[in-house]
Amino acid sequence: MRPIVGPTLLILLIAPLLASHAQETYPSADCAFFESLLDRSAVSVPWNRGFCCNYSVDVTLTDGGVRKTTRGFTCRSGRVVTASVVNFGLNGTLPSLENFTSLEIIELNNNNFTGAFPSVMGLKNLTRIYGGSNFFTTIPDVSGNPNLEYLVIPRNEIIGTIPNLTSLKKLFSVSFYDNKLEGAIDGLLPQTLSFCSLTNFNTNPKLFTVSGDLPKVCLSEDQIIPFPNGTAFGRADGGNRSSGGPSVALIGACAGGAVVVLIGVVVGFAYYRKKRRRMNEEKGKAPDEPHCRTPGLRRRS
Ligand SMILES: *[C@@H]1O[C@H](CO)[C@@H](O)[C@H](O)[C@H]1NC(C)=O
Ligand SMILES: *[C@@H]1O[C@H](CO)[C@@H](O)[C@H](O)[C@H]1NC(C)=O
Ligand SMILES: *[C@@H]1O[C@H](CO)[C@@H](O)[C@H](O)[C@H]1NC(C)=O
Ligand SMILES: *[C@@H]1O[C@H](CO)[C@@H](O)[C@H](O)[C@H]1NC(C)=O
Ligand SMILES: *[C@@H]1O[C@H](CO)[C@@H](O)[C@H](O)[C@H]1NC(C)=O
Ligand SMILES: *[C@@H]1O[C@H](CO)[C@@H](O)[C@H](O)[C@H]1NC(C)=O
Ligand SMILES: *[C@@H]1O[C@H](CO)[C@@H](O)[C@H](O)[C@H]1NC(C)=O
Repeated sequence: MRPIVGPTLLILLIAPLLASHAQETYPSADCAFFESLLDRSAVSVPWNRGFCCNYSVDVTLTDGGVRKTTRGFTCRSGRVVTASVVNFGLNGTLPSLENFTSLEIIELNNNNFTGAFPSVMGLKNLTRIYGGSNFFTTIPDVSGNPNLEYLVIPRNEIIGTIPNLTSLKKLFSVSFYDNKLEGAIDGLLPQTLSFCSLTNFNTNPKLFTVSGDLPKVCLSEDQIIPFPNGTAFGRADGGNRSSGGPSVALIGACAGGAVVVLIGVVVGFAYYRKKRRRMNEEKGKAPDEPHCRTPGLRRRS
């Protein structure tokens, strides 16, 4: 009897380990979605079809500075949980991601995707969306993603207004700079934000605030939020901006003086921006950085 007890115990102990390890190399039906993206962009599939779950490579991005990230996937119970196709030479419009019910992190940045950002409706576990440096034209509806922490879609072709994101109680970082956004941003962004990049280098020149009702972090250094009609520029201090832009009457009455003051401000400000530009370029890239340290993508290591 005794010789059997040892091996039996051993098998009982290691069986769950084997099972959980095997899960990572199992095929997943989810892989086909990504394989079709590669196929239609004439990019060869670097994993065995169906076996994307253990694919992971380091990628170095060189847009505006050099930074490292990871391209690859992680899965759980046969479903993709984190998906990164950064800098993969992919193009075309993207179908809905709604079927990826286990998805937590999606990274689509540095490709040539076009059209609307794919739907992420109903993905309750989704925490991070990265889509920078593509040709997307919309911000996805994220009202049904209560766990969303990162919404990072700079350097695209997004038109229209910023959606109301105040219901997202975990939202930590938004980045929409270098798009074609417009309209008032008052009351649209939650105070939970710790990182906010809307207008670096005065991109999105048609975004403005009337009441200043936005997280101070969105008005941090070198963020310029024009008031309506470009009659004034506000910035940085985040404080004394409780009332709206200057009235037409005021401008009319003080036109001469205002012009002189404005020229002074513009010249001074241009000098200031130029001075800060180098440092700001570093910061401008920051929103894309967090995925370098994505816990999800490192989970297996
Ligand atoms: C949704 O995902 C499951 C699991 O990967 C797959 O079996 C199913 O065909 C997918 N449905 C659609 C409509 O894509
Ligand atoms: C995935 O795992 C299988 C089995 O362990 C291995 O043969 C294959 O090389 C791995 N693929 C990649 C891309 O790491
Ligand atoms: C993406 O588009 C840029 C220009 O818009 C082009 O130079 C580049 O070759 C394209 N890349 C791919 C992989 O299609
Ligand atoms: C995507 O790129 C591939 C390979 O260059 C090309 O054949 C295809 O026409 C492109 N598709 C679109 C929608 O631009
Ligand atoms: C969502 O995350 C929770 C907590 O990690 C997990 O228990 C649950 O299975 C996930 N849902 C799906 C659909 O994967
Ligand atoms: C955004 O949504 C919140 C909660 O639904 C609402 O109270 C607020 O008025 C909305 N903001 C704007 C500018 O519509
Ligand atoms: C600002 O724009 C609004 C709406 O387009 C317009 O009604 C108003 O007259 C403009 N004010 C100035 C000072 O140009």
